[in-house]
Parts: sequence; structure tokens; C-alpha cells
Amino acid sequence: MSSLSLKDKIDLAKLPKHIAVIMDGNGRWAKKQGKLRVFGHKNGVLAVREITEAAAELGVKYLTLYAFSKENWNRPKYEVDALMSLLVSTIGKEVTTLQKNNIRLKAIGDIASLPLKNQRELEKAITLTKNNSRMTLVLALSYGSRWEILQAAKSMAHKYKEGLISDDDFVESRFEAELNTTGFPEPELMIRTSGEKRISNFLLWQLAYAELYFTEKLWPDMRKEDLFEAILDYQRRERRFGKTSEQLQNN
Ligand code: IPE
Ligand code: IPE
Ligand code: MG
Repeated sequence: MSSLSLKDKIDLAKLPKHIAVIMDGNGRWAKKQGKLRVFGHKNGVLAVREITEAAAELGVKYLTLYAFSKENWNRPKYEVDALMSLLVSTIGKEVTTLQKNNIRLKAIGDIASLPLKNQRELEKAITLTKNNSRMTLVLALSYGSRWEILQAAKSMAHKYKEGLISDDDFVESRFEAELNTTGFPEPELMIRTSGEKRISNFLLWQLAYAELYFTEKLWPDMRKEDLFEAILDYQRRERRFGKTSEQLQNN
């Protein structure tokens, strides 16, 4: 056994710049102990803190957390309400920690569909932390990738019709400028907890070449070491981008 800790084994020169996470399994975590699903969501907050801190400590520049999907609006009303008030109180409570840790908060998704209280709390935290530079924490709220891509397409169509853009603007980089994630690098690593192996309408465009990492751990059980393990797994992979292994080695 090596005496190095998991964290020490990470090659900081090959750190992903952007990690995206589907925080899944809160409900099952609660159910396992005979508690209500909402208890799982409450306990998921600690994992958010752990993973955010671990990412910032390492020097990851962007961390995107999928907190609420467009499809999650179809859950029972009491669960949606509980999640919304948990979001408000958590953002309110964590904003001082974000400030202290020099972390900038951003949000992607259909923010206008959130309750006004959430929008205000979010806006406050985003404005307060806007000049922080250590890491950007992106919350995906009422987020759906198909919705995001469609609204980007609509915006392009509108600008085309108005003569603001031409045929030449229909290129990937210009299209990306219309996505919610404009300005953020593409995630190199996507982590999903709870053993489910699907994307669930998360960053469909942006994850085109991301390495996918799945763990059986339920979200509320996630700790710093689990993030380190995922990054180590990522660092053992060969990212070929369509090329051959030989081409990469000769480079
Ligand atoms: C993830 O946990 C949190 C949200 C989707 C808001 P779930 O609530 O999906 O938990 P499971 O998947 O039912 O266990
Ligand atoms: C995905 O989890 C959304 C979030 C983690 C916010 P879900 O639990 O909603 O995903 P599905 O419906 O099981 O695919
Ligand atoms: Mg789930």
C-alpha cells in the first residue's frame, strides 16, 4: 500500500477544469432509513458542501451541480415545495462560505420558472459573489438540456430573421454563445451518483466528449475522497477525440 492519500495521487497538471455532477439518490438514501424523501434532500446539502470544497481545494475552476431538472416539476407538490424552500435557505446560508472561499455562484436553467423568492435569493448570491475567482459553482435549476438547446435555436432564428447574423454564423462556437453555459469550458468529467447510468437531460451538447463516471454511492453519502477517486479514474483514461491511440502517443 502506498502511503500517499488519494488526494496526493491526483496529477494537478491534468486536473479537469470543469466537473459536472448529477446529484442523485437522495430519496433512496432517506428511504433506506425509513425516512421521508425530503430528509434525503436535507442531508444532500452536506455532500454539496464537501464536493464544492474538495473541488475548490484542488483547483478545479468550474463545478456544475444538477440540483433540479425541468422534469422534477412533475414530482408531488410537497416534495417540489420542500426542495424549493431548501434551495432558498441553503443559498442564503452558504453565501458567506462562498465569499470566504472566493467562489463565484452562477445558475443555468429556466430561472424565470422558479418561485420569486428563489429568484431573488439566487440573484443576491450571484451578485455578491460575482468578482470571486477561485472557482465558479454553477447550479442547474429547473434545467433541461433540450429546453436549453431549443431556446438557443430560437434565439439564432430570431437574430437571423432580424439580419443580425448570417449563414456563416451557424457554426458550433456561435451556437454555444446562445447556450446557458456560454463562457464556461466544456466539462471534461461528468459524475453521477446512485448507480443510475443515464444523462437525464443534463448538458447534452456540452457533454459530447466528457468522460462519464458512475458511482453506486447515494448523493448524501458523497465525501471529498469520493471526488478524488472519480478524478483519479478520469486521469487513467485516454481521451482520444476520434484519433487513434498511436497518434496521441506520437504527439
Ligand atoms: C436527487 O435525488 C435530487 C433531485 C433530483 C432533486 P432523488 O430525489 O432523485 O433521489 P432518488 O433518485 O429518488 O433516490
Ligand atoms: C436527475 O435526477 C436530476 C437531478 C439530479 C436534479 P432524477 O432522479 O430526476 O433523474 P431520473 O428521472 O431518475 O432520470
Ligand atoms: Mg433520482
